[in-house]
Amino acid sequence: MNPLLPSGWVVVKFGGTSVSTRPRWDTIRHIAADWKAKGKRVLIVVSALSGITDKLKAIAESKADAARRAAVRDEIVARHAAMTAELDLAEGAPLAPWLERLDALVTDPRATTAELPWQADVLALGEMLSSTLGAAYLGAGGLPTGWLDARDYLLARAIPNQSAWGRYLSASVPTAPDPALAARLAAQGEVFITQGFMARNEAGETVILGRGGSDTSAAYFGALLKAEVVEIWTDVAGMFSANPRVVTGARLLSRLDYEEAQEIATTGAKVLHPRCLSPVREAGVPLAVRDTNRPELPGTQIGAAVPNAAPSIKAISERRGITLISMESIGMWQQVGFLADVFERFKRHGLSIDLIGSAETNVTVSLDPTENLVDSDVLAALAADLAEVCRVKVIAPCTAVTLVGRGMRSLLPRLAGVLGEFDMVRVHLITQSSNNLNLTLVVDEAAADGLVPTLHQALIKAEALRAEDPAVFGPSWRELYAQGSATRTAPWWQTRRTELLALAAEGSPRYVYDLATVRERARALRALATPDGWWYAMKANAQTDVLRGVAAEGLGIECVSLAELEVARAAVPDLPAERFLFTPNFAPREEYAAALAAGARITLDNLHPLEHWGALFTGHDIMLRVDLGVGRGHHDKVKTGGAGSKFGLALDQVETFRKLAREHGARIAGLHAHLGSGILDVAHWREVYAQLAALADRFGRVETLNIGGGLGVPARPDETALDLAALDAALAEVRQAYPQYRLWLEPGRYLVAEAGVLLARVTQLKQKGTFAYVGVDTGMNSLIRPALYDAWHEIVNLTRFGEPADTLYQVVGPICESGDVLGTNRKLPRCREGDVLLIATAGAYGHAMASHYNRRPPADEVVV
Ligand code: LLP
Repeated sequence: MNPLLPSGWVVVKFGGTSVSTRPRWDTIRHIAADWKAKGKRVLIVVSALSGITDKLKAIAESKADAARRAAVRDEIVARHAAMTAELDLAEGAPLAPWLERLDALVTDPRATTAELPWQADVLALGEMLSSTLGAAYLGAGGLPTGWLDARDYLLARAIPNQSAWGRYLSASVPTAPDPALAARLAAQGEVFITQGFMARNEAGETVILGRGGSDTSAAYFGALLKAEVVEIWTDVAGMFSANPRVVTGARLLSRLDYEEAQEIATTGAKVLHPRCLSPVREAGVPLAVRDTNRPELPGTQIGAAVPNAAPSIKAISERRGITLISMESIGMWQQVGFLADVFERFKRHGLSIDLIGSAETNVTVSLDPTENLVDSDVLAALAADLAEVCRVKVIAPCTAVTLVGRGMRSLLPRLAGVLGEFDMVRVHLITQSSNNLNLTLVVDEAAADGLVPTLHQALIKAEALRAEDPAVFGPSWRELYAQGSATRTAPWWQTRRTELLALAAEGSPRYVYDLATVRERARALRALATPDGWWYAMKANAQTDVLRGVAAEGLGIECVSLAELEVARAAVPDLPAERFLFTPNFAPREEYAAALAAGARITLDNLHPLEHWGALFTGHDIMLRVDLGVGRGHHDKVKTGGAGSKFGLALDQVETFRKLAREHGARIAGLHAHLGSGILDVAHWREVYAQLAALADRFGRVETLNIGGGLGVPARPDETALDLAALDAALAEVRQAYPQYRLWLEPGRYLVAEAGVLLARVTQLKQKGTFAYVGVDTGMNSLIRPALYDAWHEIVNLTRFGEPADTLYQVVGPICESGDVLGTNRKLPRCREGDVLLIATAGAYGHAMASHYNRRPPADEVVV
């Protein structure tokens, strides 16, 4: 660094919990010393010790209660004495002047009337005390730290229409870089500490900056000093793509522009106060949010917008307790001044409006609870006033769900599927902010439960939230903070790299199945206490050794075509005939005849077979598949229930089916339902089981309930595996109520998905615009799931496994279709021709759904 140039400033801010213990002060010293070692001048901004501002507030509001004031004063003194001792500082010395000031304020006659300038003086003491302690402790620890009175630098200015309360207790400070000040301070030292939360007014009195005041102070100082960065040190790694308490898969936002950060802070995130963004934005000073407990993490960096960045949703937030006011004009069409009339009334009641939707004769607005509606009488008074000019309807409580991201309008096409989640939810209002940064939907509060996690996942899946873009997103909350149990075990292929590379060298593309994994999954299922029978849905993977493996573990085999039945019988010729379950859909007559002749169990899901070929079933037990009215699963195309689905008998046809069965002498021995595939929520099977059991109670001779398959496996890193113990417990609940029925399940995917990988060889690389493509020797002809269901499969470069994954690729195949994509936006090490890529979780519905499209043979199959 050039010694003639003044070195840059860094402002670091620490909140209450970060200044309340000695180890935390040691962390502050390290952070400041690190910056100093890098040649920076450091200004530390601190809050009061945690809990102290509340105590000072109690004093400020105690009015006639002098005894309470004295008691709280004692608590404050004791707390600071303890902290002084913890920091090994000489008792009393540095804090004495501030404690004397506290005594004077407590006994001040202005206390009884709670005069505002007096209140501000009282509230400011917390930071005076903490910063004084800090200066002494840091200095004693070898980091000379100059103490600054923040009020000497921050001059508050009243804003138009501001109340007296606002001027003293929620003040604002206009700031612009002041190079002279920066130079003056630089001449005095290298590290300084000052107070957050306060400033001085033009009359020289102390004023308070209001909520989020310390963040705002840091931002003001950052602007004045034209700092290189303002760091807000807190208890979390930064800002997240959703509230991590609700969405544990929420991703760290590594990079935001000022406006996006402002929007996220305003619409819900509590990490950063929205007020602190405009001072740094105007001065062009970057701001970072960082975790005091994990200083190695880079946190969230906020700065100017990156030109040409790919548009992405950055975050989704929800605000509860929203009130909507719908106003219907009673005047005439194009009534002049209608909006002016209604808005004037909001102003009269001191209410500020957030969202607005308008139509020719209606305008609907939202009021935010935090700012406006402290007092519910205000609402009644407003409604009464509005009634003079319009018909008023108050809709509350509502929840506002907001998507934030620059370039929202260009993201609309990607939101089509995501908005499908609002299917069953009443949406009162949709607004798109005029700065193109947010899209907000207001729904009934009661309907909002669970919506944000579902939407967050749907946004990632639709790549509207480009979670794989390392320029914007970091790890998920769960990855950063979750301990042990939830983390998944490493997949089998990670330790078998040499073997897999050898197999790929022998032939590519190639599916490789680990039979031990299949059998292990089968054993895990068979170990559950409640189910009585397990059937493997062989449509997922019909490879011979796989069929033999599951049969050897004691599972029966479920087939959906005569060809499947024949393949299965050939693979496991010793399996007794009744261990084959034939569950086709719209199969021709001959297939049922052949399956019955082979002795397999038959499931029907339509009237037609009994109406037209009833004699076929005479003397046989049959199962009846019903449609319970809803479908579930990882994608619309795998939902197999509900009005739009071709599967299952409608419940209102069940009586006709029974009559036909009776007529033909066929016995309905079981009921069946399978609502879809790729389900990770155990409540699903409990529900199906309970519904089938309730239905079975209306039949005389049903013995068995088959609740289908659908057991999902996690695909994306932020999905959690199915909890088998929880599944068993859920099933046991229903078993208690209906002990008389046998319970069967027929999973496919769960047994084989994770046992299989697809190996493919890199053929070509291409850079086109901002996109880097890596092409491999097979695509949708081997694995159609990404093209068909937008399914996400983990992809790794096996040849370069372990090398830093620093390039963002589109992984594509050689088929002449734009949909021939195996993975979009994947971070991989830089790939070369000949590298072997591994596509994981490909054992289910991979080879089973492959084709010869473009006359390219699909990958062959090997078992290890
Ligand atoms: N039972 C019946 C009646 C079924 O139709 C299916 C699957 C299963 C059981 C087994 O479902 P699983 O446990 O594997 O989820 N190709 C799609 C999946 C379609 C599933 C069709 N039926 C995919 O790749 O996701």
